[in-house]
Amino acid sequence: MSENLARQFLIREDVVFLNHGSFGACPRPVFAAYQNWQLELERQPVEFLGRNLTETMRQPRIALAAELGTVPENIVGLTNATLGLNIVAQSLDLKPGDQILTTDHEYSALEKTWAYVARRTGAEIVVVKIPMPLTTEAQFTDTVIAGMTDRTRVLFLSHITSPTALLFPIDRSIAEARKRGIWSVIDGAHTPGHIKLELDALGADFYSGNCHKWMMAPKGSAFLHARPEVQGLINPLVISHGWTANSKEPGAKGAFGNSPFIDELEMQGTRDPAPWLTVPAALAYRRDNDWPSVQAHCHALAQDTARRLGELTGLAPLSAPEFCAPQMVAMPVPDCDVDAIKDALLDKYSIEIPVFRWQDTCIVRLSVQGYNSKPQMDLLLTALTDLLHLEGAAERRVS
Ligand SMILES: Cc1ncc(COP(=O)(O)O)c(C=O)c1O
Repeated sequence: MSENLARQFLIREDVVFLNHGSFGACPRPVFAAYQNWQLELERQPVEFLGRNLTETMRQPRIALAAELGTVPENIVGLTNATLGLNIVAQSLDLKPGDQILTTDHEYSALEKTWAYVARRTGAEIVVVKIPMPLTTEAQFTDTVIAGMTDRTRVLFLSHITSPTALLFPIDRSIAEARKRGIWSVIDGAHTPGHIKLELDALGADFYSGNCHKWMMAPKGSAFLHARPEVQGLINPLVISHGWTANSKEPGAKGAFGNSPFIDELEMQGTRDPAPWLTVPAALAYRRDNDWPSVQAHCHALAQDTARRLGELTGLAPLSAPEFCAPQMVAMPVPDCDVDAIKDALLDKYSIEIPVFRWQDTCIVRLSVQGYNSKPQMDLLLTALTDLLHLEGAAERRVS
């Protein structure tokens, strides 16, 4: 990637930052647009937050909906995907004995969310184990569908998984859930700006995604998408001015003239709307910098680095390439003290990258974004060879 592109980000030069996946990173022009929104707010808070906010909040919804293959009426701006998914999980009417079907690749905070919901409602969580390595669509879909019973009320899936960086082929599972009257709830924390999304065509009942990760908008920008037919099921976690006692039937008006779905969720007391308002600037930045080409380059770099590490370790990848997140790859490494390796990568090589144990596998999760470079990948491989004693490891594994 060009030096020029790296300079457009605020990442410190003394850090080799290979963990875009956790919190994203915001390019300078997008960050400047964000600060401009904050300044504008401070110059006339009552006008900004009082009189104009409903209208101002609408613009990002219009821009984002066009990007995500939906209409502005089906999405609402929130601060993060955790919030979006909590709103859904805590709205659905679950009873003792109902089942929430999910996989063994989910993000730990959301596992807690569903555990909390299960405890409060008496519902039961059913976790299906996705056979690994993931090499065919049927292997995923057949496993998920085999987990559905006549008690399943919710299907909860990550679209791109956090610990394993897999791109789950979720389409047929969603369609099957719909056929059986099961609500599909999708954790899309990693997908906006990472893969092409067509939310209406995908057909999930509820889909929450972050704009602050791969779309590179400022921290605290995310959305919840809901099909019009199920928007009325949603209740806000915080009751504020947006709430009304009106009906929630399709076509009903909320307190500020949008739908109740939008008005109830968007207004949650005083908050900084600047990250959400900056979403159009993030989309413009990507257009101005030919981001599809940047992403293709990052994808090639990620896959090449994983292949080279695989040659060093002799360990097989977690999936066929088509099920790997384009700019993120979870690379298996030999059994090790994961925290010690993570710390040593940072202390000795200034490399920021997650190293953790997932089930029985030790994983180094590599993210590649436009500010990263081939020399950084080379350094990572050198560092892992040193710290994990990989010289000759592949040969030792075979013999
Ligand atoms: C799969 C997945 N879901 C949800 C989240 C939560 O995102 P946030 O903290 O922005 O709500 C993450 C964060 O990394 C994630 O990886």
